[in-house]
Amino acid sequence: MEKNFKRTLVTCALPYANGPVHIGHLAGVYVPADIYVRYLRMKGNDVLFICGSDEHGVPITIKARANGVTPQDIVDKYHGIIKDSFLRLGINFDIYSRTTSEVHHKNASGFFRELYDKGEFITKESEQYYDPEAKTFLADRYIVGTCPKCGNPNAYGDQCEKCGSTLSPEELIDPKSKLSGAQPVKKKTSHWYLPLDRFEPWLREWILENHKEWRTNVYGQCKSWLDGGLQPRAVSRDLDWGVPVPVEGAEGKVLYVWFDAPIGYISNTQELLPESWEKWWKDEDTRLIHFIGKDNIVFHCIVFPSMLKARGGYILPDNVPSNEFLNLESDKISTSRNWAVWLNEYVDEFPGQEDTLRYVLCANAPETKDNDFTWKDFQQRNNSELVAILGNFVNRAVVLTQKYFGGKVPANLKPEAIDAEALGQIPELRRSLEANLEGFHFREALKDAMNIARIGNKYISDTEPWKVAKTDMDRTASILYTSLQICASLSIAFEPFTPFSAEKLRGILNVGLEAGHDHRAGEGEPTVNFFKPGESRALHTIPSGQSSGPGRVHSRFAAAEYGLSPEAVPEAPVFSWDDLGKSDLLPVGHQLGEAVLLFSKIEDNVIEAQIEKLNATKAANEAAAKAAEAEEAAHKVEPQKPEVTFEDFGAMDIRVAEVLAAERVPKTDKLLKLTIDTGIDKRTIVSGIAEFYSPEDMLGKKICVLANLKPRMIRGIESKGMILMAKQGDGTMRLVTPSEAVANGAVIG
Ligand code: 2FM
Ligand code: ZN
Repeated sequence: MEKNFKRTLVTCALPYANGPVHIGHLAGVYVPADIYVRYLRMKGNDVLFICGSDEHGVPITIKARANGVTPQDIVDKYHGIIKDSFLRLGINFDIYSRTTSEVHHKNASGFFRELYDKGEFITKESEQYYDPEAKTFLADRYIVGTCPKCGNPNAYGDQCEKCGSTLSPEELIDPKSKLSGAQPVKKKTSHWYLPLDRFEPWLREWILENHKEWRTNVYGQCKSWLDGGLQPRAVSRDLDWGVPVPVEGAEGKVLYVWFDAPIGYISNTQELLPESWEKWWKDEDTRLIHFIGKDNIVFHCIVFPSMLKARGGYILPDNVPSNEFLNLESDKISTSRNWAVWLNEYVDEFPGQEDTLRYVLCANAPETKDNDFTWKDFQQRNNSELVAILGNFVNRAVVLTQKYFGGKVPANLKPEAIDAEALGQIPELRRSLEANLEGFHFREALKDAMNIARIGNKYISDTEPWKVAKTDMDRTASILYTSLQICASLSIAFEPFTPFSAEKLRGILNVGLEAGHDHRAGEGEPTVNFFKPGESRALHTIPSGQSSGPGRVHSRFAAAEYGLSPEAVPEAPVFSWDDLGKSDLLPVGHQLGEAVLLFSKIEDNVIEAQIEKLNATKAANEAAAKAAEAEEAAHKVEPQKPEVTFEDFGAMDIRVAEVLAAERVPKTDKLLKLTIDTGIDKRTIVSGIAEFYSPEDMLGKKICVLANLKPRMIRGIESKGMILMAKQGDGTMRLVTPSEAVANGAVIG
C-alpha cells in the first residue's frame, strides 16, 4: 500500500441467486477475500466487507419458468441458502444483502436517473427479436436454434453450450422463442447506452498508466478491451424482472443486470450504514478493493468505473484481484451439468471440517492459471498437511507438556542453539506472509504460515523431547517451552486462513486474540472481535443473529458497557498480529487448556463416497446427453433425393403381401428368411430386419414389397423382392404396413 489509507472497503462479486455457491466461486473470490479481511482487521485496519445476492438477470427468470415458480421464489430460496452457507464457512460479511431490496431499487434507480439527467447516456434504436405470441422482446438466452458451427439444435442466442461458440441470435438456424416456441420476429426498440468510448482516454491513463501493479490477467484483459476500442454499451433491457427504468415512457424496460449489480455494493453499504456510507464511497482516504472472478473483469475495471466517473464524487477501485477458474476432477465446473461441489452440501456433509475446504481452496487457488480440485488432493492435503504437520506438531507439544509438566508452560531451563534457530526463522516468515497477503498472493502466504508449522514439526522431531525426558527434565522443559512458543505463533498466523482451527488452538493454548473490529452492528459501535483466553464461546451474541463462525466477544475495553466486571476479563495472554514471531508469547507457568485434536483424518471411504457422487452425476449427464442425441437423430430427416419421373415410379411393382413363415438365416445377426404370399405367388425374401424384428414378430404381418426387384442370391438363398421399411434418422427401421385390412396382391401406387 503506497498511500496511507484510513480505511479499506472490500467487496466480493455478488453471486447470482439462481443456485448455491460452489467451490469455484469460493476459490476464486470469497475465500481469498475473507483471508484478506481477517488479516487487515488483525493488523488493526478499519475494514468494511460487503457482499449480497445478485437477484436480477435472465438466468433467474429462466430458472423460475423452468420450475414453474416466480423469479422472487427463486431468489428467496437461493439467497437464504447462499447467505447461510457463507456464514457456516466462516465468511462473515458485514452485510450480505440482496439486489431486490428496497434500498437497492431506490439507489440503482437514482443512480440511473442522475446519469440520465446529466445527459451521460445516448439512446439508440435497434432491431431486437420479439415473440409475437408471447408479445414480448426476447433476451438472447430466450432464443434457441441450431448452432451454425456444430449443428447443436439447442444452442442459445448468445452461446452454444455444446461447442462453446459465442453466438448472436441472428446466427442461429431456425430460431425459436423459448417462451412460446414461435418464430421470433425483428422489432424496433429503443435503449439507453453508456458511451464507453467517451471514457476510453481516461481509462487508458487510469488503468494502463497508473495501475500497472494489477494482476497480469486483469491488466491484460483491460488492455485488450481498450486496444480493441470501446463501444457504447446498453444499460437497459426489455424485460419484466429487474429495476424499472425510471424514465417516463420506459414501461416494460428494466436496468441491465450488469448496470444494477455493482451499484448493489453501494446500496448494501447504505443499508448497513445509512448515516455514514458516504465516507466508504466518496472519501479519497478509503481504499476500495473488488474481489472478483475473471469473467467479471471488464465490468469491474471498465464499465463500473466509467459509471462512477460519470456520476462523479465516487472513489475508484485501487485493486481488483481476480482469479482464474477452478476445475473439478479435470472438468469445467458447471451449474447446469451439476458438476460442482456445492458449499451448502459440503458444510452439511463435513461438519467440523470447514477449515479443510478453506485450506485446500487457498493452497490450490487458481491465482495465475486455471487449477484443478480433486477429492484425492483434498484428502491428501488434509491428512498429510493439516493433520500430519500442523495438527501433529501442536498435539505433540501440548500432550507432552500435559504429561511432564501438568499442562503448565515449563521454564526455559536449558536452552540450546537449535531452539533459537527454530524460533529465529519465524520473523522472516512473518515478513513474507505479510508481503504475500498484502500483494494478494494467498497461496504463497499460506505456504509461509504452513512453513511455521513445518519448522515446529521438524524441531520437535529433531529434539525428541520424549527421549530426552528419560534423562534430562531441564532440557525437556526448554524443548517444550520453545515448541509452545511456536504453537502460539501458529495460533495467530492461521487465523485468517483457518479461523475455526485457530480458535480451537487458542482453546488448547488457553490464550485469546484481538482480531480487530467489524461493522456488523451497523451504525452502532463497531463489534470488537476479541476472543477470550481459553474460551471459544461468544460471551455476547453478535449482531443480527449471526451465530456461526468462530465465537466473538466484545472487547475487554467494553466490559463495563456489557455488565462484566473487569476481573471477569482475562489479562493475558491475548495476542495480536504484532505478536506473531515473538519467542516469549506464553509465560512460564501459564496453564494450557485441554489437548484436543486440531484436525481429524479423512478416511478413504469418505472420499470414495464423494467420488461416487460425482460419478453418478457424470453417468446421469451422459445418459441425458445420449437421450438428447437419440432424440435429435430420430428427428433428423434425410434430404430429398433427385427427381424421378412418373414412369420411373410406375415401373416399380409394389404389392401388399403377408408373411407366412419366418426364420433367422443361420450364422447372421441381421437377416431373416421370410416366406410371403404376394397374391401373385408364394416366394422367399431375405431381409436385413433381424435387428428390429424377431421371426415371431413377423409371422402373419401384412407388409409392402417391391415385387419386381431383380432376384439376388443372399447367403445362398434366392431373395425375390424387397420389403418396404421406413428408416429413421437414428438408423432404426420400422415396417411399412397398411393401416386397414387390404388383400394380398393389392397394388400400391
Ligand atoms: O458473475 C456473477 O456471478 C455476477 N452475479 C457478479 C456480479 S458482481 C457485481 F457487480 F455485483
Ligand atoms: Zn455449437
